[in-house]
Amino acid sequence: MEIAKVGVVGCGTMGSGICEVVAKAGIPVSFVEVSPDRVEAGLERIRGSLQRAVDRGKLSQDEFEQVVGRISGDTAYESLSDADLVVEAVPERLPVKQDTFRELDAVLKPDAILATNTSSLPVTDIAVTTHRASRILGFHFFNPAPVMKLIELVTTVVTDEQVIADAKAFAERIGKTPVVAKDRAGFVANLLLFPYLNQAVGMLEAGYATREDIDAAMQLGTGHPMGPLALMDLIGLDSAYAIMMRMYEQFADTRHAPRPMIRQLLHAEYTGRKAGQ
Ligand code: CAA
Repeated sequence: MEIAKVGVVGCGTMGSGICEVVAKAGIPVSFVEVSPDRVEAGLERIRGSLQRAVDRGKLSQDEFEQVVGRISGDTAYESLSDADLVVEAVPERLPVKQDTFRELDAVLKPDAILATNTSSLPVTDIAVTTHRASRILGFHFFNPAPVMKLIELVTTVVTDEQVIADAKAFAERIGKTPVVAKDRAGFVANLLLFPYLNQAVGMLEAGYATREDIDAAMQLGTGHPMGPLALMDLIGLDSAYAIMMRMYEQFADTRHAPRPMIRQLLHAEYTGRKAGQ
């Protein structure tokens, strides 16, 4: 299937990054946000990211204009009615995602592929709220989406083989490397990553070392681009907490139970970089 136009729902950290990646690959993309202010904020976030690329000499002013010209934002789902693929990137709450999918299902072309960028929720539970469960899959980008090369394609028991093949081809077309995973909490990368992040918080709580030294140990000793605590700060404690809880619920393994400090910081709204604290 030829994917000529892409839709994105939600233009926060992940949604804006996804729009940027798709538009940079030369494909028109429209996103939907809940209010005109959020549409403008989304466009501003994308322009800001592209401007940094211009400032670093990675993108010319001409390319900037072309990429921005491929992106539009709206508040109505109907603006996505001609999209061949829609990627949902709304907050990580199952009822919110299910409502979004129901509404999209009503306005999209019957053969459009509908993907969720969920990092922790069951794709199957999202898919079954629609009349096109076989055309639904997880399309999991990593943060920051313009930089990280991986996309996890999450398949359910009813995802059509051709949809998986089309999604793989699309991921490659936008410069990513797809990995196919089953619909289990954490998929592949997060199931390996989050027990490690949680353990780092446990070590900080227990006073093994300072946060700077814990991060330095992993960054300098094992070649990670950033330490585990800095990475949680980037991911956001709200997302990290949701992912850990989901894995804990599914596997009943205490390695996944979020350390108390995560909950405390979350309740104090110290969710990390995106919240500015
Ligand atoms: N948007 C666009 N580009 C960005 C960016 C952003 N938000 N952040 C960084 N970049 C680009 C920079 O422009 C730069 O590009 P060039 O090399 O072309 O100049 C490049 O990335 C490197 O950036 P910096 O030099 O500013 O900084 P850095 O070298 O320290 O890299 C980093 C920053 C890319 C975030 C790097 O530290 C890194 O890879 N960290 C690990 C990130 C990671 O593990 N992400 C996965 C989180 S888990 C997840 O996302 C799953 C989930 O479900 C929660």
